[in-house]
Amino acid sequence: MNKSIGIFDSGIGGLTTLKEIRRILPNEDYIYYADSKNNPFGEKSKKELDKIVHNIINELLKYNVKLIVIACNTVTTKFINTLRKDYPNILFVGVEPAIKVACDNDYKNILLMATPNTISSQRTKELINKNKKEKQNIYLLPCEGLANAIENNDKKRISRILNDNLNKYKNCNIDSIVLGCTHYPIIKNDIKKYFKTIKIVDGNKGTAKRVKHLLKESNLLNNKKEKGSIKFIQTR
Ligand code: DGL
Repeated sequence: MNKSIGIFDSGIGGLTTLKEIRRILPNEDYIYYADSKNNPFGEKSKKELDKIVHNIINELLKYNVKLIVIACNTVTTKFINTLRKDYPNILFVGVEPAIKVACDNDYKNILLMATPNTISSQRTKELINKNKKEKQNIYLLPCEGLANAIENNDKKRISRILNDNLNKYKNCNIDSIVLGCTHYPIIKNDIKKYFKTIKIVDGNKGTAKRVKHLLKESNLLNNKKEKGSIKFIQTR
């Protein structure tokens, strides 16, 4: 029997990742776990998050999934190595800030928007050290409250947070923004309005390609011809 791909986030943000994966793997079946009850992950302590994340993985494993996508930059940057050690037989693919993509495209002034936990992570520092060229600037912007406002579709709070955070970059010649949280592509058009010309990148495409590559390599691709299903589980 064909197994499903498990995918999770602190709510609806990871649906932006699921969309990219389904674009290139439409025949796969998916189980999407939206842990809205525990949103925001990006502002929780490591200890709290550790418990939450292990609970989610254990839930997904009940469905006998063949691979788990961490559709959350916060969990990927803080936990993917721990998870690989704790669950050595599970294939994990995570979304992380697309700093490499922005640097490889030679943008000069790059703004990284992400949760406080992602911004402060060791992995984000490594990605910058590895990819930033001498003439490039990377501005780090922890957007406290933004993922939660998006999760709750609180338009007033979203625009207040964007005003407070983005106005100060208006004169920095920002030419690209890395959306380092899977919730942020949902409000991409609102973010665009603060800049004249801007290129926006996120990690979802890279993650989708990696999922396909890993499944192919492991001989786990679904061989059915019809469109796959999505099972949606949400905590509240
Ligand atoms: N969407 C997640 C991320 O990419 C988590 C946001 C949050 O819950 O703070 O980081």
